[in-house]
Amino acid sequence: MKKLLYIDACIRNELSRTKRIASPIVESLKKRYEVETIVINDLALAPVQIEENRRRANGIVSEEALCWANKIKEADRIVIAAPFWDMSIPAALKTFFELCSLFGVTFDSDDKTCFGLCKAENLLFITTRGMAIKTGDPLEQATPYIKALSWLWGIKGFEVVARDNFDYLPQEIIEKEIASAVEEGLLIAETF
Ligand SMILES: Cc1cc2nc3c(=O)[nH]c(=O)nc-3n(C[C@H](O)[C@H](O)[C@H](O)COP(=O)(O)O)c2cc1C
Repeated sequence: MKKLLYIDACIRNELSRTKRIASPIVESLKKRYEVETIVINDLALAPVQIEENRRRANGIVSEEALCWANKIKEADRIVIAAPFWDMSIPAALKTFFELCSLFGVTFDSDDKTCFGLCKAENLLFITTRGMAIKTGDPLEQATPYIKALSWLWGIKGFEVVARDNFDYLPQEIIEKEIASAVEEGLLIAETF
């Protein structure tokens, strides 16, 4: 069975509307993939600072980060679920990426530029936003970032399931939006 890596950055956990959308979609992908989940909340990550940078410059990478990087490299598909925070993604997820987006593992370079080393053909990003900001709006800096990162890793396919205005819509409409996002994701999951 092919492998799918699910990166769960739904920081509010059981309160997370993003997680309510992502969970049934990932569940349905289990029919076709062996799913491994990394829960960002469980990792208690500290931002990458000068010491980590020095270690890396000397070729020293933590075993944990190398293990995450290899999971990303070897996955056949990747799903990332994260809320829209400060016009982008939660810092804990960015820290995770900084730790495991590793030269020589997830990407490499020749004498001109970088290129990806990851096996995945497709990445699905699932998110919800507080304000009425649609995917593609210049104010929306999460999707372009995840897309650019998947380019760095060499992943060509990119799908996004997003809903917005969740901090302002009445609860009954939010419920309908969650249901329609799940439906949209389940449809993507059939061919993902
Ligand atoms: C720390 C934090 C930062 C946020 N920043 C933004 C933001 O910049 N723009 C926005 O539209 N919503 C923002 N929101 C609102 C969330 O995007 C919105 O409530 C989303 O649905 C949360 O997803 P969740 O229910 O999965 O946690 C923020 C929420 C939190 C807690």
